[in-house]
Amino acid sequence: MTEGLLTTAYIAASVLFILALGGLSNQETARRGNIFGILGMAIALTATIAGAQVTSYGIMAVCMVIGAVIGIMVASRVQMTAMPQLVAILHSFVGLAAVLVGFASYLDPESNFTGTEKTIHEVEIYLGVLIGGVTFTGSVIAFGKLSARITSKPLYLPARHWLNLGLVLLCIWLGVGFVGAESVSGGLLSLILMTLIAFAFGVHMVMAIGGADMPVVISMLNSYSGWAAAATGFMLSNDLLIVTGALVGSSGAILSYIMCTAMNRRFLAVIAGGFGSAGGVTTVEGFEDQGEVVSITAEEVGQLLKDSKQVVIVPGYGMAVAQAQHIIFDISKKLREQGVDVRFAIHPVAGRMPGHMNVLLAEAKVPYDIVLEMDEINNDFPDTGAVLVIGANDIVNPSAQTDPNSPIAGMPVLEVWNAKTVVVMKRSMATGYAGVQNPLFFKENTRMLFGDAKSSVEGILGTI
Ligand code: TAP
Repeated sequence: MTEGLLTTAYIAASVLFILALGGLSNQETARRGNIFGILGMAIALTATIAGAQVTSYGIMAVCMVIGAVIGIMVASRVQMTAMPQLVAILHSFVGLAAVLVGFASYLDPESNFTGTEKTIHEVEIYLGVLIGGVTFTGSVIAFGKLSARITSKPLYLPARHWLNLGLVLLCIWLGVGFVGAESVSGGLLSLILMTLIAFAFGVHMVMAIGGADMPVVISMLNSYSGWAAAATGFMLSNDLLIVTGALVGSSGAILSYIMCTAMNRRFLAVIAGGFGSAGGVTTVEGFEDQGEVVSITAEEVGQLLKDSKQVVIVPGYGMAVAQAQHIIFDISKKLREQGVDVRFAIHPVAGRMPGHMNVLLAEAKVPYDIVLEMDEINNDFPDTGAVLVIGANDIVNPSAQTDPNSPIAGMPVLEVWNAKTVVVMKRSMATGYAGVQNPLFFKENTRMLFGDAKSSVEGILGTI
């Protein structure tokens, strides 16, 4: 493939990636956005493989077949509830790739940079390996936390901010030594030491993040993986990788900012790692003194819904676990046919990944115009007859507003308790992801419908 054709293909792929991001920002255009993304990636791969840089097609073909088989197997088997940890582990691959490409570029015997070009190339390598290393181990820890293999409780080392600052200064010092090194072997030691520090930093940064703050970490690692890919693009002099990496990096950064606003956290504190309230102790125990919970049956809930003029449904992680979205949609349809005004309220961090609930409701074909964001609906709860909370917990926890020591203190929540009656569907009195007890369950106007969300909604559907 000629240079001109390659450049044209790369520009076309970049435009398709931009259109893909634009499409994915809205539910109605998301499908089209995905198609643009797939097309862009197909063009990018074909052009890169046909480019002059690739010489050993045999090795590449074997690697691509192995990668494709693993990818297809994992993607077809993964449960919707396990998507966040899959995304986290995929981010770690991008980070590891940046580290490996960095080392390979540095050790490349055919590399013939001199003078300023050599310095620039070494700075690219150093930054690429640094970002890649943090992304790699940070994403592995995020994978562990999201899949409950590692405790979601924050780990606070003594003087952790000073420790982080010390590590950053050490990396700068090693970087100066790396770029000024006379020989490859001299620079290699600095590069290896910095890589180990970057690995440690990634672990420390994500271990210090408490359960409820994980959404910000996911989007932040998404952003880091983009910058790691962009750095890899610089090392390989691949313009498309630079553009794509920058797109992922900046859109991830914007998403992190949106998540920070949703969680009421400071953006800079997130980047420094270990943010949030001073690590308020989780209060799993001690709900026995909060009063009594009142149970309700599925038939009673059915009657309550039919008698209400306004109903709001609040889905949470438990709806995803139970896969109850289709039946919930049937309930909303039936109620609407009977003249009840039914709407859905989506909290920005409901579930386990950004947009989790929107994806599930779209899959169940819930019309977009009755799906409202938290800010759009929070003021309407006082005029709402019944709220159906299905498998949600942290996102409807009033202690975020009332208990300054709570780990979720300050996080905006759906103020469902302002409605006339709130029905909470869950299996037990267990806490949600943040591990904090929820005073909502003990309020006078709250009724608990215990059981798996799917059987509960099936029971309700049968009575309306
Ligand atoms: P959670 O607070 O995690 O609560 C979910 C509730 O669903 C649990 O209390 C659980 O109670 C119930 N549940 C689980 N399986 C169920 C089933 N089969 N049937 C009925 N109920 C079931 O969820 P949320 O309210 O959606 O809040 C999300 C939390 O996850 C926040 O803390 C957020 O910060 C965190 N988080 C979010 C993300 C993103 S990006 N969205 C990423 C990581 C973490 P039982 O066990 O008693 O049934």
